[in-house]
Amino acid sequence: MKVLSVTSELFPLIKTGGLADVTGSLPKALLSCGVDTTSMLPGYPVVMQTLGERMPLVSFDNLLGERATLYHARHEDLELFVLDCPALFARDGGPYIDGNGTDHPDNWKRFAALSRAAAEVANGALAGWTPDLVHTHDWQAALTSVYMRELGCNLPVVLTIHNLAFQGQYGADRMDALGLGQHLYSTDCLEYFGDISYLKGGLQTADVITTVSPTYAREILTARFGMGLDGVLNERVMSLRGIVNGIDLDVWNPSTDPYLPRNYDSTTLKRKRENRSALMERFGLEQGDGPVFSAVTRLTWQKGMDMFADTADEVLHQGGRVIVFGQGDAAIQEALRQTAARFPGRMAVHVGYDEPTAHLIHGGSDAIVQPSRFEPCGLTQLYALRYGCVPVVSRTGGLSETIIDANDAAMSARVATGFQFHPVNTDGLRLALRRALDTYGDTRNWARLQNQGMKTRFSWERSAEKYAAIYNNLICRSEELPE
Ligand code: ADP
Ligand code: GLC
Repeated sequence: MKVLSVTSELFPLIKTGGLADVTGSLPKALLSCGVDTTSMLPGYPVVMQTLGERMPLVSFDNLLGERATLYHARHEDLELFVLDCPALFARDGGPYIDGNGTDHPDNWKRFAALSRAAAEVANGALAGWTPDLVHTHDWQAALTSVYMRELGCNLPVVLTIHNLAFQGQYGADRMDALGLGQHLYSTDCLEYFGDISYLKGGLQTADVITTVSPTYAREILTARFGMGLDGVLNERVMSLRGIVNGIDLDVWNPSTDPYLPRNYDSTTLKRKRENRSALMERFGLEQGDGPVFSAVTRLTWQKGMDMFADTADEVLHQGGRVIVFGQGDAAIQEALRQTAARFPGRMAVHVGYDEPTAHLIHGGSDAIVQPSRFEPCGLTQLYALRYGCVPVVSRTGGLSETIIDANDAAMSARVATGFQFHPVNTDGLRLALRRALDTYGDTRNWARLQNQGMKTRFSWERSAEKYAAIYNNLICRSEELPE
């Protein structure tokens, strides 16, 4: 079976968050289910520079008014279609924002062009290659199925929502520039409170909608988590599924991780101390024996790091160290920095984004704090488990089903892996931090939590099988339909 996966990010080529981890690792896992995935992504400068050999497949003279070429390339185990469109993608900054943190003003066109080109491929633009199914990810790829349906292409489409907070909402005056007929500007397609919503268009035209955990699939049906799209999702509930993300066990493996000064596994956990010391040095902290509580995250309201700014003193008063590594909201950075200023040498807030540091933090920390207000799946807590860090998380979305709270029942059954809190507010987080710190003081119980966490396996196998089953069903169904 051939699947065309359409995405704006893909690890290891281009990543701003978990979306890239998923689109980069799911194809490998799907191979053993008989699914060959080719991933289509924009030719950002870093992608064009990293790729070795590439072969032009098709040129577009007028892709929403721009010239573009689609290349085939291979990178590590990944089969790729790269959309080289210099007018839209050859520029400084990240995939979505410029160097000042402002959205590229033509994001509406950049990702519509990606989707349009993907629809052309689905509709047979490449001699000798058409997919059996198209899998789109988030709003950036969601218009693919809208364009496909307009081209008369009825191949099955699966749309995965990684985060409902980002929807691709733009003014309705863009319908012409998008090459979309006015008939699509309707409540059952693109119209969204007087604007156009790319994600809504995708939700209305995909055959199956998935999101990245069963709990988040339930949550987004409510007004509280539905971000304005709960009505649409409720109408499509029979086609909505939640499949929890896996992680790449090769990329995130403490016994082989090249970014750790000292590799370890569950039988040599004591070696983590060496990484801890390297970590404190890297972040300019005074060495000490207390626990290191860290966060590696986007600094946004979603991730609740403002609540951590208000509660990190719990850890610091107990002789611990706190490390926050991430980037995002200036007000949240400032709040964290103010807390850090009260504890010189013991709390570090570094604004930045790099993979080696993220690995070192997992290798050297005792606990990873993730107080998200909502979390479709979350991957950092899964990396934390694998690296023998104890996650302290809010009970929401994927966090609620991947971490088992260290309550008495779970401790005595020897299945607990971390600390959860609910309701999700500052007091809840403070209490959870206190519980974690108390347990840290009990060496045997803490080691038990670490070991139990390290035994948990969130590999892709089970989840990839679920995606493959959905693909198979859809393909069988579409073959049974009369032409
Ligand atoms: P989200 O996609 O919502 O940001 P996830 O937990 O699913 O959250 O995935 C976040 C991914 O981004 C993880 O791979 C994490 O290690 C990575 N990440 C977050 N912040 C940083 C950072 N500052 N530097 C490097 N990697 C980061
Ligand atoms: C999103 C979500 C995160 C999820 C990731 C990958 O960025 O915020 O919870 O793990 O996508 O699916």
